[in-house]
Amino acid sequence: MRYTRLGATGLEVSAVSLGCMSFGAADRGNHQWTLDEDASRAIIRQALDAGVNFLDTANVYSDGSSEEIVGRAVRDFAARDDVVIATKVHGRMRPGPNGGGLSRKAILSEIDNSLKRLQVDHVDLYQIHRWDPETPLEETLEALHDVVKAGKARYIGASSMHAWQFAKALYTADLHGWTRFVSMQNHYNLIYREEEREMLPLCADQGIGVIPWSPLARGRLTRAWDAVTARTETDEFGKTLYHDDDRIIVERVAELAAKRGVPAARVALAWVERHPAVTAPIVGVTKPGHLTDAIAALDLTLDDDEVAYLEEPYVPHGVVGFQ
Ligand SMILES: NC(=O)c1ccc[n+]([C@@H]2O[C@H](COP(=O)([O-])OP(=O)(O)OC[C@H]3O[C@@H](n4cnc5c(N)ncnc54)[C@H](OP(=O)(O)O)[C@@H]3O)[C@@H](O)[C@H]2O)c1
Repeated sequence: MRYTRLGATGLEVSAVSLGCMSFGAADRGNHQWTLDEDASRAIIRQALDAGVNFLDTANVYSDGSSEEIVGRAVRDFAARDDVVIATKVHGRMRPGPNGGGLSRKAILSEIDNSLKRLQVDHVDLYQIHRWDPETPLEETLEALHDVVKAGKARYIGASSMHAWQFAKALYTADLHGWTRFVSMQNHYNLIYREEEREMLPLCADQGIGVIPWSPLARGRLTRAWDAVTARTETDEFGKTLYHDDDRIIVERVAELAAKRGVPAARVALAWVERHPAVTAPIVGVTKPGHLTDAIAALDLTLDDDEVAYLEEPYVPHGVVGFQ
């Protein structure tokens, strides 16, 4: 396994992160396609055995059951200090007032709830899952700073938002002497490249580690455009992200993969990893072979002509995935 530093921090993470949104009770939350605990544990174990030390989950994934599964697996299969656990806050965990968002009250409750589900006394990376326009930024940033100072998180990170929002959060933290975000978890893959305009250059300039979500466009880049899997049928959020203009790029990935004699997933991941701002893509795994491909992609180098061929048909997309 190759390890790299998360942005400008000293934190060493594997160059592939295991996305734990694939794990959880299908009857909790809104991901009916998730793997049950036994199947999830097998994948987590496979990842740890292969040297993947970076696990990404969220309080909201399958209504907390992803964190519960990850917590039990880490307890059983790893030494706590060997693992970098990332989780997130913002999603709605219960109906009614204060059930979601980034208020001080929500953050200070949700970090404790996540720690309980994960059975740990700290997480390594605590990320805001989205921007909260209803809460003053200063309130959110000071609460996150307090989480770090209380020893409940080692670092803080952010996820999909506009670059101006992230820049504002960085300079506001600096102005107050609060803990700064060290990472950006954003949507980036061959068929969603809008982050190349503002966010990736901002992250490169500011020493922010970039850990893209859905690097395979939720599986779209790995198979025929019309293919159906358990996930494609029920992944409601995924259905909002891509459109038919993207099909030609998926076909080019398959064509290039056939020429190289490797699965399409490896080509698509090698393309994401190639961007100098990217630290580690967060891959979604629902079969052991998916993880094998993700790790093998680290050894696949695309040449400039291949990259140009994959990129050439891209047309700018409307901004999606911030909701
Ligand atoms: N911050 C955010 O807002 C946000 C949003 C989304 C995700 N995430 C994070 O990012 C992680 C990854 O997201 P994602 O699952 O959407 O990522 P992804 O890697 O783009 O998609 C994963 C899907 O691709 C297919 N796949 C993966 N490897 C494959 C291979 N080698 N061959 C064939 N098919 C393959 C599988 O589809 P099938 O299951 O259909 O076979 C799998 O479920 C999540 O677990 C989560 O931690 C964060």
